[in-house]
Amino acid sequence: MAEIVLEHITKRFPDGSLAVNDFNLDINDGEFVILVGPSGCGKSTTLNMIAGLEDITSGELRIGGQVVNNKSPKDRDIAMVFQSYALYPHMTVRENMGFALKLAKTPPNVINEKVDEAARILDLNQFLDRRPANLSGGQRQRVAMGRAIVRDPAAFLMDEPLSNLDAKLRVQTRTEVSRLQRRLGTTMVYVTHDQVEALTLGDRVAVMRTGVLQQVASPKELYDRPVNLFVAGFIGSPAMNFMAGTLEDGMLRTSLGDFRLSDRLRREVESSGSGREVIVGLRPENFEDVALVSADNRPHGLTFRASIDVLESLGSDVFVYFTRELGRGVNVAELEELARDSGRVDSGTGETVVARLDAATRISEGQDAELWVDTRAMHIFDPASGRNLSLASDGDDRAASVGTASGQADAVQPQTADPDAATATDIRAVPGQAGQAGEAT
Ligand SMILES: Nc1ncnc2c1ncn2[C@@H]1O[C@H](COP(=O)(O)OP(=O)(O)OP(=O)(O)O)[C@@H](O)[C@H]1O
Ligand SMILES: [Mg+2]
Repeated sequence: MAEIVLEHITKRFPDGSLAVNDFNLDINDGEFVILVGPSGCGKSTTLNMIAGLEDITSGELRIGGQVVNNKSPKDRDIAMVFQSYALYPHMTVRENMGFALKLAKTPPNVINEKVDEAARILDLNQFLDRRPANLSGGQRQRVAMGRAIVRDPAAFLMDEPLSNLDAKLRVQTRTEVSRLQRRLGTTMVYVTHDQVEALTLGDRVAVMRTGVLQQVASPKELYDRPVNLFVAGFIGSPAMNFMAGTLEDGMLRTSLGDFRLSDRLRREVESSGSGREVIVGLRPENFEDVALVSADNRPHGLTFRASIDVLESLGSDVFVYFTRELGRGVNVAELEELARDSGRVDSGTGETVVARLDAATRISEGQDAELWVDTRAMHIFDPASGRNLSLASDGDDRAASVGTASGQADAVQPQTADPDAATATDIRAVPGQAGQAGEAT
């Protein structure tokens, strides 16, 4: 087992392209770290540098305390599992799994013992004498993992190992990988472009964009406290909704209605030098059918009217889609880039807002409905830098103040935001989800 440290790691390919730019990450002994990001952001390049399959242009890589920049892959005590399992077709499962040990001149009885043990862990015992052609995709993937396990390496590196599997098998194998890592307790670095996989698997998730590390944190932290617009839009499905906001005298005007900012958040936003135009982020689950919100809770949010274009019932939840003007002043280019980078169509960049409601809602498609949004969970971003301005004010009192400017927090907003008719809700605590106050740094 080993700790892996990447210090100022940079990769520039001979053609001049900068694939990884000043990457810093400490991976603890036994930790399960996920590298996630859109296609081409440098995940595989980073992993290949750890494995020794790709030269490091500059920076220092240490495994178990030793600088390994110039060590060949076989001297790094690391096992890699690729997307293509690359099994030897003419060998049985047993021979495939034991091949690396055979090359290392390990005695046959030891090889057999190790292969049997790995097969037991991976539930492959009954397939040991079959050839890969006669296995399912999931079984082949397990053989590929078995080949890595028998070597008992200091760390496992996995590059999208599940992407050849169908959706159901992916979920099943994902759980197996997670269980396997816990059982073996071996350091694991796992690459995926799938943010759901990233959130469900890792102890910590490192989000990359165009060769640059954006944020490293636990799945919950990434979700609740994204440091910038990119992480906020990339993590979470359906994606966070973004809309324009304009600051005016401590009020935040949006197409859903107007909010009064806490003094602290107001100072934070004003001192950021970002000007009066900001981007407001609200996750689908921050919305609710107002009929299902208790009277106690209503003052913590904003009630507005929306015409429901589409309603999807998933049994456990209901998703409703409605449109809002993106608003003047929103940096659409940044949002479009975000959508492109994250390779998603549902990045909340259009005018469509997605809200997740309780299954008990009576709202129906094509209807005008009254919705409520929890403004305590709102994020505010600087449109120029993308920085999340609402994080710094986290020390703020999280309990939302009930007082409202007009004294009628429950008043319904007109469908098109009319600043004069809008209700101002005083929100003291803004960022993050309710109930994570203990995590504030
Ligand atoms: N040999 C090479 N020469 C020049 N550029 C390269 C080379 N290999 C990769 N790149 C570039 O480096 C960047 C990062 O590539 P990398 O394979 O690490 O991306 P990735 O995050 O793994 O993407 P994916 O999710 O598609 O696998 C890309 O822009 C890619 O085009
Ligand atoms: Mg890749």
